[in-house]
This record gives sequence, C-alpha cells and structure tokens, in this order.
Amino acid sequence: MPSHYPRPTVQTAPASAWRDTPQRFGRTSRWLHWGMALLFLWQFAGMAAKVTLGRDDAFAKFMVGTHAHLGLLLLLLVLVRGAWGLMNWQSRPGHAGGWLGMAARWGHGSLYALMVLVPSLALLRMLGNDRPFTWLGLIELNDGSGPKVDWMIAPAKAFHGVLGWTLLALIVGHIVMVVVHRRVWNDGVAERMIGRVA
Ligand code: HEM
Repeated sequence: MPSHYPRPTVQTAPASAWRDTPQRFGRTSRWLHWGMALLFLWQFAGMAAKVTLGRDDAFAKFMVGTHAHLGLLLLLLVLVRGAWGLMNWQSRPGHAGGWLGMAARWGHGSLYALMVLVPSLALLRMLGNDRPFTWLGLIELNDGSGPKVDWMIAPAKAFHGVLGWTLLALIVGHIVMVVVHRRVWNDGVAERMIGRVA
C-alpha cells in the first residue's frame, strides 16, 4: 500500500496548528470532524432507540425531541466544514492515486452529499408544515400559521429516513476503512485526523 499521499507544497512559514497542512488536519478540521461525529452518534442512537424501543419509551421520546434541533446544528456545521475544506483545499492532505484514492474520493464525496441532503430535506419539510418550530427554543423558523405545502413535505417523507440510514451505513464503512488503514496497512493515514497536532 502507498505510504504517502502526495500533494505538491511550497511551505514558506511554520503552519498554524489550527490550519491543515499536507501532512495532517489542523485543529479546526479536527474539532469539526469529532464534534460532528458525536452529534451523529446522538442522532443515530436516538433514531435507533425510537425504532427498537418504540416512540412511547421515555428515552426514545427524549431523543426524538432533540432530533430536529441537533440535525439543524449538524447542517450548519457541515456547511462550515465544507467551506473550511475549500479554503484549505490546496494545503490539506490529499488522496492516494489509483483505485484506492478514487474509492476514497467517492466515499468522502457521498458522505458530504448526504450530510447536506438529509437535514436539508427535513428542513424543507419543517418549513412547509403547519406545525410551529423554534430552533433551540431561540429562533422561530415556523410559526405554524401557514397551510401545509405538499411539495415541501413530500421529498423528506419519501427520502429523509432511508437516506439517513444510508448515511449511517457509509459512516460505518468510513470507520472500517480507518481501522484497515491503521491496523492492516499501517500507512499513517488515520493519524492525520487522530493524535497530537504538531
Ligand atoms: C444530519 C442530520 C440528520 C440525520 C442523520 C437524520 C436521520 C434520521 C433518521 C435515520 C430517521 C429515522 C427514520 C426512521 O424512522 O426509520 C429520522 C427521522 C426523522 N427526522 Fe431526521 N435526521 C437528521 C436531521 C433532521 C432534521 C434537521 C430534522 C428536522 C428539521 C429531522 C426531522 C426528522 C423527523 C421529524 C423524523 C421522524 C421522527 C419520528 O418518527 O417522529 N431530521 N432522521
């Protein structure tokens, strides 16, 4: 397996620990990555509880109650993360060449696409609904006074759940590949997002 993932670089000054470099992700990328990982864990644990324990279970009820609020926070964070990724595009670790790099590119691209699409569909449904919703109890996004708008509700009704579970499957695949990089190939790829920032 390739032991380095090249990206041409001309480094003129010591890199800030907050920014990405071709060798590793900086603190900003790491906070976004691991913070979002925790929030996703919460989201999926909640939905798994709802499906397995039933929506009358107290724990499931509590988790379902937080779902839309944390989901919108995740949407905001993925947009910040995407913007940060683009700003650091030239200086962050690249992908390997060949089929492995291509698979990683498609995998990461699909993760980003679903991280945007899944909460966006739900946001559209919430805005088109006749139920009030105030984000985190602070920002009123729907006062509940309007009629239901079918075309805003239908896409999430059809796809939010199934794409949400697809996103979970991709995240599991992502974790499996990290373990393979670390334990089988031992090529230093996982360490770019783990461990101390030099
Ligand atoms: C990235 C963030 C999100 C993920 C990964 C996610 C994932 C899921 C999953 C897996 C389900 C379960 C589907 C099933 O019952 O099988 C679900 C249900 C649901 N989601 Fe999301 N979701 C996210 C964001 C949002 C947002 C932002 C909203 C609202 C604005 C929302 C509203 C809902 C609602 C209303 C349900 C149905 C819950 C119920 O049965 O009462 N979700 N979501």
